[in-house]
Amino acid sequence: MMILSPLPIIVLCSGLAACLPSEHSHESRAVSKRRPVSFQQRNLNTITAIYQRNVYPTSLEFIVNGSSSVPKGLFNANVSGRITPIGNFTGFQDSVEYFFALAPIPQPPLYYGFSKIQIVEFSSQCPGVAASVVYITESVINPGAANDGQKVTTLKQIAFWEFNDNGEVIKYDAWIPNLQLFYQVANPPATNQAVIKAVCSTVQAECTGKNTQYTSVQNCVDVLSAKPFGNWDEVWMDSVVCRELHLLLARVDPVVHCPHVGPTGGGKCINEPYEDGYFLSDEALFGKPPGQNFVCGKKYQ
Ligand SMILES: *[C@@H]1O[C@H](CO)[C@@H](O)[C@H](O)[C@H]1NC(C)=O
Ligand SMILES: *[C@@H]1O[C@H](CO)[C@@H](O)[C@H](O)[C@H]1NC(C)=O
Ligand SMILES: *[C@@H]1O[C@H](CO)[C@@H](O)[C@H](O)[C@H]1NC(C)=O
Repeated sequence: MMILSPLPIIVLCSGLAACLPSEHSHESRAVSKRRPVSFQQRNLNTITAIYQRNVYPTSLEFIVNGSSSVPKGLFNANVSGRITPIGNFTGFQDSVEYFFALAPIPQPPLYYGFSKIQIVEFSSQCPGVAASVVYITESVINPGAANDGQKVTTLKQIAFWEFNDNGEVIKYDAWIPNLQLFYQVANPPATNQAVIKAVCSTVQAECTGKNTQYTSVQNCVDVLSAKPFGNWDEVWMDSVVCRELHLLLARVDPVVHCPHVGPTGGGKCINEPYEDGYFLSDEALFGKPPGQNFVCGKKYQ
């Protein structure tokens, strides 16, 4: 059985030349100066550090302390991007919440959490652009229990990244394939009505005071039962599933995210037309027309 280490499996080295293995360590000549970090290694370190923050218990840092827990140098203040099939995200706060607040926290009865990440595919042809595929392993994390460490399943994310001159992520275009299948393996089977009831109970518990969205659990059940249930392969719509996802963010930031789980969807759980959300908005989101984002300049061709 796999034994879970409470320590991050991959050491975070972002920006630290000291973390790099020397390519010429076998050579006998004395190396008086540390080798400068290659841009490929720098970009890989940044991407690794980003995903590593989803691994439990590091993932708790964001859930507890929010965006102030995100180390400097990973995301630029003006970062924006899209995570298909979830939505678009403009600015640091919006982006980091979707990268870091969605990690499952091991809790009864299943104790499922992200136990490790592995960058399985990576390429960076120039300092400003990289592409990566990550496998995020979900396991039982329940020290002392017989099934502690048992693998549940894997979440995959494919992404293109653009970096500024300081190596901070300034744009991302990411895709989580087969999210519906992942969800089905990672969650106990439940009827749509049971999901709606669970969502509504949590909404009423977390969105209170000025953040209140519904007059009662029953009011919430009535409103959501009249909407499409939706599915995890297209979360970006006015559906129950969209609210189920955004509810995970309400625990971190109720002021911003409670409206997303409310009756109108607060500009996030709305019926964004396919062409608008995934194509026509490219220039507004990435700053340049399609074909000019996530590409290396002439120098690197
Ligand atoms: C949250 O921040 C406080 C203050 O910096 C720190 O003591 C605490 O350990 C942090 N919590 C987590 C879960 O990282
Ligand atoms: C973000 O963009 C604004 C407006 O273009 C600019 O003034 C600011 O310096 C940028 N911030 C960073 C950290 O790049
Ligand atoms: C992001 O999506 C929202 C709808 O969810 C849309 O109104 C907005 O125009 C999009 N923004 C960008 C910059 O693409």
